[in-house]
Amino acid sequence: MGIVGLGWAGETHLKSYLRLPNVEAVALAGLDELRLRELGERYAVPNLYRDYGELVARDDLDAVSICAPNHLHAPVANAALKSGKHVLCEKPLARTGAEAEGIVRTARDVGRVVHIAFTQRERGDVQVLKRHILDGNLGRIYYAKATWMRRNGIPGMGSWFTNKEMAGGGPLIDLGIHMIDMALYLMDEPDIESVSCATYAELGPQGRGGRPDAKTIVGVAYEVEDLATAFIRLSGGATLNLEAGWAAYRESSDDFGLTLYGTDGGAEMKVRNYGTQDTVRIYTDVSGVPAVVVPEIETREGHLAVVSRFVETVRSGDWQGQVGEVGLRRARIIDACYRSALEKREVSFSQQRGSR
Ligand SMILES: NC(=O)c1ccc[n+]([C@@H]2O[C@H](COP(=O)([O-])OP(=O)(O)OC[C@H]3O[C@@H](n4cnc5c(N)ncnc54)[C@H](O)[C@@H]3O)[C@@H](O)[C@H]2O)c1
Repeated sequence: MGIVGLGWAGETHLKSYLRLPNVEAVALAGLDELRLRELGERYAVPNLYRDYGELVARDDLDAVSICAPNHLHAPVANAALKSGKHVLCEKPLARTGAEAEGIVRTARDVGRVVHIAFTQRERGDVQVLKRHILDGNLGRIYYAKATWMRRNGIPGMGSWFTNKEMAGGGPLIDLGIHMIDMALYLMDEPDIESVSCATYAELGPQGRGGRPDAKTIVGVAYEVEDLATAFIRLSGGATLNLEAGWAAYRESSDDFGLTLYGTDGGAEMKVRNYGTQDTVRIYTDVSGVPAVVVPEIETREGHLAVVSRFVETVRSGDWQGQVGEVGLRRARIIDACYRSALEKREVSFSQQRGSR
């Protein structure tokens, strides 16, 4: 394995690979010399680069994890794929649908795997919900609400996160994408019919709502939204209501959750400050009487699950259809949301596809 980008995400990928049997971390790439040397020594990785191009060109690597800022996902993925590597890319797959499409096309052309680190869907509570849904306990889900909201949670004020060119957007592409992924995964991947979105930048541009973070400050102005809200129409008449915010005058916490209403049952997941226990309630009728199921939740590590599945897929040799399409579908939704917010109107998905 080679890993490009050595912030929190990069180190988490590295630690996860090292827990798997017969996986070796061969090379790391990052811009911060000190961090590069520190991680190289701590995890005994021998080859360290500032230039990711040198890393992906090595012929002793099977695969590359991309944990760099979002604007680098497409260039690094394409370079890695073209030099024969499989790719595990952090979310979002890319800043835009067009960039994501390029990655998927390259993966198909060269016959390599692309997986995306949608780590939140791997949580124990989401997996419990998935089991209930697959067992039919909720019936047909016709309405979902998904939210991820923070009080003061703008990551690295003035870092790449708040720069439109480097990040592609704010909390919608950072947190909202996890919630869109989680909801659509649980709802069995319905098609998207239309999107109506509004974005706000009320606190960030005033220098409010930041959280202390060890991000490299590039000193750019605050250019992205700090709150996004969207109403998404799905095939079969279901709808998804989304909100994603890094900063707002609300409780001082970092909370995400999901509400699902189905024809035979409902479910609620409430996660406060990344807690993992007692997060799910399933609402149903037992013998005609309203009942609440409180499932026991297994604690799972999202990155370990994603990294393990990626390695398993690469090893299996069965790479058919593993080209990152789920990341592309999510990127198209984010595109449509930003377009809808900009043009202040609902964007239909047939229009969105036609406009490419
Ligand atoms: N799935 C999750 O839960 C999760 C959590 C955090 C971050 N992420 C994703 O991981 C990615 C990185 O986020 P982060 O918080 O770790 O960011 P970060 O800013 O902490 O780290 C970015 C790293 O990329 C390196 N880098 C920047 N330019 C580079 C270049 N040209 N070549 C090589 N390396 C370069 C930096 O040196 C740094 O090591 C983002 O896409 C983010 O969305 C995902």
